[in-house]
Amino acid sequence: MPSEQRSVLIVDDEHDIRELLVLTLGRMGLRTDTAATVSAARALLAANRYDLCLTDMRLPDGSGLELVSEISGRFPNTPVAVITAYGNIEAAVEALKAGAFDFVSKPVDIHMLRGLARQALDLHTRVAPPQDDPASRLFGESEAMVALRQTIAKVARSQAPVHISGESGTGKELVARTIHAQSARSAGPFVPVNCGAIPTELMESEFFGHKKGSFTGAHADKPGLFQTANGGTLFLDEVAELPLAMQVKLLRAIQEKTVRPVGSSAETQVDVRILSATHKDLAQQVDLGSFRHDLYYRINVIGLHVPPLRERTGDLKLLSTAILQRLAHAMHRPTPVISSEALATLEDYPFPGNVRELENILERALALADGDIIHADDLHLPRVPRAAQAAATATAAGPANAAPAAAQGADPRTLSPYDTASSALPSYIEEIERAAIQQALQENRYNKTKTAAALGITFRALRYKLKKFGID
Ligand SMILES: Nc1ncnc2c1ncn2[C@@H]1O[C@H](COP(=O)(O)OP(=O)(O)OP(=O)(O)O)[C@@H](O)[C@H]1O
Ligand SMILES: [Mg+2]
Repeated sequence: MPSEQRSVLIVDDEHDIRELLVLTLGRMGLRTDTAATVSAARALLAANRYDLCLTDMRLPDGSGLELVSEISGRFPNTPVAVITAYGNIEAAVEALKAGAFDFVSKPVDIHMLRGLARQALDLHTRVAPPQDDPASRLFGESEAMVALRQTIAKVARSQAPVHISGESGTGKELVARTIHAQSARSAGPFVPVNCGAIPTELMESEFFGHKKGSFTGAHADKPGLFQTANGGTLFLDEVAELPLAMQVKLLRAIQEKTVRPVGSSAETQVDVRILSATHKDLAQQVDLGSFRHDLYYRINVIGLHVPPLRERTGDLKLLSTAILQRLAHAMHRPTPVISSEALATLEDYPFPGNVRELENILERALALADGDIIHADDLHLPRVPRAAQAAATATAAGPANAAPAAAQGADPRTLSPYDTASSALPSYIEEIERAAIQQALQENRYNKTKTAAALGITFRALRYKLKKFGID
């Protein structure tokens, strides 16, 4: 603890609550000021610097939300948390959107309040985020990436749930890890979970844990993912894959901040920040009825979109260099340079598998290249027409106008296929098919059963097509 005493501004019109907060925070060695109205709070804010502000939502002369926006705009180093009525999730979500760090619900739980204060103050002591490991750095100087990094830095300071959308391989998990690493929870665990990979019947026990003997095979007590992530971040990857029944249970856990292990009668409190991601359009899943609106609303308080690589080709040089450096280093080889024609070829390629695909391409090129220069020939890019790429990713989150003309039944001659030799309609359609298959393979980590299911064709049909297109 630094020698300077930290101070907290408490804003609540109820005398008893102010007193409770003053006592609790005072015992933590914090100095406190109190205000009963928005205007009194403003006066104190103008005269003093605070390390934390706690405000009620409904105040006699205005709303706590006004204070939230004012403080996060004018004093970005002062985290502000709101006190909400029990069960008023709308208010909590609104406050988080306005820039609140976190919320506590009434009646105020002292234990939770202490945790919140500790985390808010921790945020303050952390000077530079640990961002030096090049393997976990988000490279890119395109406008989109610079903006993304800025947003990450901002949301990292809050406890709000963040939903990360973007095509396969764009870097969603890396974004989630970066948010965690820059947050006050960075000393706590980051627990990623692929929601599509847990068998339905094991889900509840995986998430919430179980007691010994609660079902056949439960030989010992086992903590769930929530307990494992306690004090840290739980990353729900491919969140759209959660079955509806599980969505209900998850919503409850997130809202109440408690979980009940399978076979246990007692609930345990958990302090977990929820980040989630999917390559699907979650809002569309809500419309289709496969994702609950209330859970969507709860986990998507802040939405972050990671743009596809083909929309930020300006990043290719920097990204390729960084990736080659990492690969060459691991192979104890000197880092090769990428020729300008090779770079131009990459800039023309639509990358259905985004950064992950770029990594694969460069890894292969590194193995094939003779000298210290990577030439265009070493890249062996699959021939995917740009329009076909759009067709392959039309279901992924992204601008609706990216939907290809072909899918809308437009005249195929108006399309400009990447490969001019394939402009005849049948071969053009084949290219689209091939791109869709390659994309699905990547998304399903080359699991053929899953790929066939995702494409809506049988396993046999997929096997036939793989052979036909010479994909292995
Ligand atoms: N901006 C970037 N700078 C450096 N590396 C990146 C960047 N974006 C992604 N990567 C790398 O690309 C690979 C894919 O990223 P990541 O796993 O985060 O993507 P994803 O969107 O979660 O993919 P999927 O949808 O397949 O799960 C990782 O190896 C990651 O380190
Ligand atoms: Mg991922």
